[in-house]
Amino acid sequence: MLTIRQAVSDADYSAYREVRIALEPGQRIPTIEDLRSFERPGRHTVLAEVDGQVVGCGIADRSDSVGRAHVQPRIAPQFQRRGYGTELLYKLCELAEPLGFPTAGALADDPGSVAFGLRHGFTEVDRQVEQVRPIEDELPVSAPDGVEIVSIAQRPELWLPAYDAVGAPGFADMAASREVKISREQWEKYEMNEPAATFLALRGESIIGVASLLTDEDNPARAEHGLTAVVREERGRGIASALKRQCLHWAASNGISEVYTWTQQYNEDMRRLNERLGFSYGLVSVTLEAPLPLLRRPS
Ligand SMILES: CC(C)(COP(=O)(O)OP(=O)(O)OC[C@H]1O[C@@H](n2cnc3c(N)ncnc32)[C@H](O)[C@@H]1OP(=O)(O)O)[C@@H](O)C(=O)NCCC(=O)NCCS
Repeated sequence: MLTIRQAVSDADYSAYREVRIALEPGQRIPTIEDLRSFERPGRHTVLAEVDGQVVGCGIADRSDSVGRAHVQPRIAPQFQRRGYGTELLYKLCELAEPLGFPTAGALADDPGSVAFGLRHGFTEVDRQVEQVRPIEDELPVSAPDGVEIVSIAQRPELWLPAYDAVGAPGFADMAASREVKISREQWEKYEMNEPAATFLALRGESIIGVASLLTDEDNPARAEHGLTAVVREERGRGIASALKRQCLHWAASNGISEVYTWTQQYNEDMRRLNERLGFSYGLVSVTLEAPLPLLRRPS
């Protein structure tokens, strides 16, 4: 019989990570420390077990996308198609109900998982595309006239002000199906993990752009782009390209062989910019939504 329980110990969080690493090879998975620090009232990080063996894991929480809950059932590949995902999904939706949102969102990165979501009353509302770029000899960057590019290793005091200047407005401007809101605390803790790979564009002392690489302890040769954003009045002047090239140059000098980035399907500007920088397309992640409470479908 499947049992679902809250993750509490480091061993539990490690088991949670193992399920995710098996399902999402090459993607950055939060560390045990991160997972602990994500916990907050109303969030549930669970393990699904059969006879004491972990077969899956899940999350029920508020979403960064405004106005919905986030539920994410995950069943390890060798335990799929046995009904466990269904039990886990309904439990996560029950756990999410007290948050008071009318809707739950989930992400599905492969056709089988999309089929699973559709079968349980979810519909597609958005897509994210992965863009991937091998790292070669990446030349040093010259910034556009009047613009200076600095790293947070050089100017650590600028990371917090960057939230108001380019972080919060950059997320709010994303071409997503719902507005994305990242708190100041999330910005501070999770949007940067390597100050030397986090770059700001300055005009005088004004912060006008940001781009970064997030490194991955599990896959040191692969890094993920964090938020790339330029203030509206400075767009179209080559600032985002210069910031991203600076990231690529840092990658080449620091043992990274591939970088990747997730972009909203309808974010033409960002996708085109990445294409021009030599990125090609990788995985697709489908955003699904369903009304809460989730009604059981006949099997
Ligand atoms: C989605 C997921 C949780 C399903 O877990 P599961 O334990 O296999 O789910 P169940 O056994 O309860 O349900 C399986 C049903 O989902 C659908 N399904 C799952 N995988 C499928 C596949 N590869 N092809 C077609 N349909 C599939 C089918 O309707 C299937 O029923 P069937 O086995 O009778 O044909 C699992 O595939 C997973 O962990 N995916 C990655 C994480 C993810 O995307 N989660 C969010 C999904 S909303």
